[in-house]
Amino acid sequence: MRTVYVCQSCGHTSPKWLGRCPGCEAWHSFAEERAERPGRGRSAGPGPRAAPRPLAEVAASREGRLATGMAEMDRVLGGGLVDGALVLLGGEPGIGKSTLLLQVLRNLAGAGRTVLYVSGEESAAQIRLRAERLGEIPPGLWVVAETDLAAVEAAVREMGPAVLAVDSIQTVAVPELGAAPGSVSQVREGAARLLQLGKGLGLPVFIVGHVTKDGAIAGPRVLEHLVDTVLYFEGDRSHAFRLLRTVKNRYGPTHEVGVFEMGPEGLREVPNPSSAFMGRRSAAAPGTVVIPCLEGSRPILVEVQALVTPSYLAMPRRTATGVDGNRLALLLAVMEKRLGFRFHDRDVFVNVAGGLRITEPGADLGVAAALISSYRDRPLPRGLTVLGEVGLTGEIRPVARAGLRLAEAARLGFRRCLMPPRAGAEADLPAGMEVVAVDRLEAALDLLLEDPRRSAVS
Ligand code: TYD
Ligand code: MG
Repeated sequence: MRTVYVCQSCGHTSPKWLGRCPGCEAWHSFAEERAERPGRGRSAGPGPRAAPRPLAEVAASREGRLATGMAEMDRVLGGGLVDGALVLLGGEPGIGKSTLLLQVLRNLAGAGRTVLYVSGEESAAQIRLRAERLGEIPPGLWVVAETDLAAVEAAVREMGPAVLAVDSIQTVAVPELGAAPGSVSQVREGAARLLQLGKGLGLPVFIVGHVTKDGAIAGPRVLEHLVDTVLYFEGDRSHAFRLLRTVKNRYGPTHEVGVFEMGPEGLREVPNPSSAFMGRRSAAAPGTVVIPCLEGSRPILVEVQALVTPSYLAMPRRTATGVDGNRLALLLAVMEKRLGFRFHDRDVFVNVAGGLRITEPGADLGVAAALISSYRDRPLPRGLTVLGEVGLTGEIRPVARAGLRLAEAARLGFRRCLMPPRAGAEADLPAGMEVVAVDRLEAALDLLLEDPRRSAVS
């Protein structure tokens, strides 16, 4: 039997063992697997051959979108499930993937469909216990605890469900492959077979894939190119909020976001996330700011807190939770250079409320404002929100879709926004909202630290 070594992180193969993967630079990621793969070459076998023809003559199938009964889920899918779509749901263990899928299936079954949930991780009795927490169990919700893919395929062909969910791709396996469940070849083969099954029957298939914090573990990463849609379920496990992000979607926009909250009765949709992530804001405290962020096409107001304190360490602490540490270092450097702040003897902590992660540079000015506010121990003017990207020279750059963000801020009671000047955008300025235009960080400093008595008029 010929074997090859396969990187369990990215799928790179090598005839001999390597300590470090040349493909993805992961250490100790190679595992020995059988080289020849039974079942490969299926495509060359008999079967209906597709003949080329002019695209204009191909009948466009009006993709029927199947509503999942969860608006947040439909949103990230691009408007519902498409026939034959293979959807990968990735996320860290324990984040709520099984709960989410079970709720989706429960909704579909509640609408009169028959759906099948395959679990390789839990027994049917355990699934039943979980489902009971979520509410009444509709008769159309079928389950099977199975890890052999061939048995799953047989079950699907026999009962013909409207939707299939396989939880997880790391636990189902093709025994003939010889490789351990969860290895790259098993995960790939499993997904390829489910793809064929789904496309052949026009059956939408969800597969769950576990990822660790750094995205390691065979699975999601090696599957992304194969599946139609990749959703990542994320959130800070110490918080109740969960974000469902579209990373890839053949049938809709990417970067969409659905927001959920984990409770004792499963996941609850959060249709109005701004109020959630702003937290219960106590009266303006020094070091806090609300930033109108954009997640996908969706404006979400997020509270960012900063704390700047004297440091007693040779290497002062820089702790960023929910914002990028490099971005924070850059902001601190620009503030030192342009504003004359001194951080070399200060510890700096930045935290995003609700466990959210902000990735867009449009939050820069907001983070800087929180730092300034904590440094000077003065709250920001009430009713003020802050938006803008900060460049290395201290210039403040505009951000995308400002109108949308301002509208959300106005809806939640903000009256002024400190942001870069907008060319001819008076038209979409929401009623009651005033733009305080700044083009440099130095100018922003003056506005942020104006006399608190004068600014507290909103
Ligand atoms: P789970 O869906 O099992 O996560 P995954 O499939 O991603 O590994 O969710 C696990 C967590 O969710 C677990 O810590 C318990 C919690 N949970 C609730 O808080 N409420 C609920 O109603 C359910 C079903 C789970
Ligand atoms: Mg699970």
